Amino acid sequence: MEQVSRRAFLLRSGGALVSGAALGVGGAANATAAEVTDYPRESVAHLASLAVGVPHPFTYPDAASPCLLLRLGRPVAAGVGPQGDLLAFSALCPHMGCALSFDAQQARLLCPCHFSSFDCEQEGAQICGQATQPVARIQLAYDSASETVQAVGVAGTLYGRRGNLAVGGQA
Ligand code: FES
Repeated sequence: MEQVSRRAFLLRSGGALVSGAALGVGGAANATAAEVTDYPRESVAHLASLAVGVPHPFTYPDAASPCLLLRLGRPVAAGVGPQGDLLAFSALCPHMGCALSFDAQQARLLCPCHFSSFDCEQEGAQICGQATQPVARIQLAYDSASETVQAVGVAGTLYGRRGNLAVGGQA
């Protein structure tokens, strides 16, 4: 059996840690875009009822899926509406389903259970915590004629579901 000195063991362990860190970075860089599922279009809110920084709760695509409609007050890449500042996300943490709260100053969704946080301006990307994926994003459309915000689909997988294949919480 090979005798390994304490010094050699520490050197090998350090190499393994560095290799693991490099794989982690590479894995993040290779992440694919969230799968998008189209659902029936549903009106979520009238524009005039939305205040900057105040989350508007709704459910989509069914009553078992709580969501938050956010008006950030500044345009973002995936935003809709006249200012391009409207976004929506599932209100359930992708780790174990705890209810997320909205930090308007940082435009982040925060989980109180194991402290995951998600960047609303980066399509719900995870910043830190125990989750291993972004929070599901609700795809929106804006109808300028009626000035209403409408939900039209889900990008990513809602917590507790194997896929976003069926309406009714059984997917
Ligand atoms: S349930 Fe949100 S981090 Fe665990």
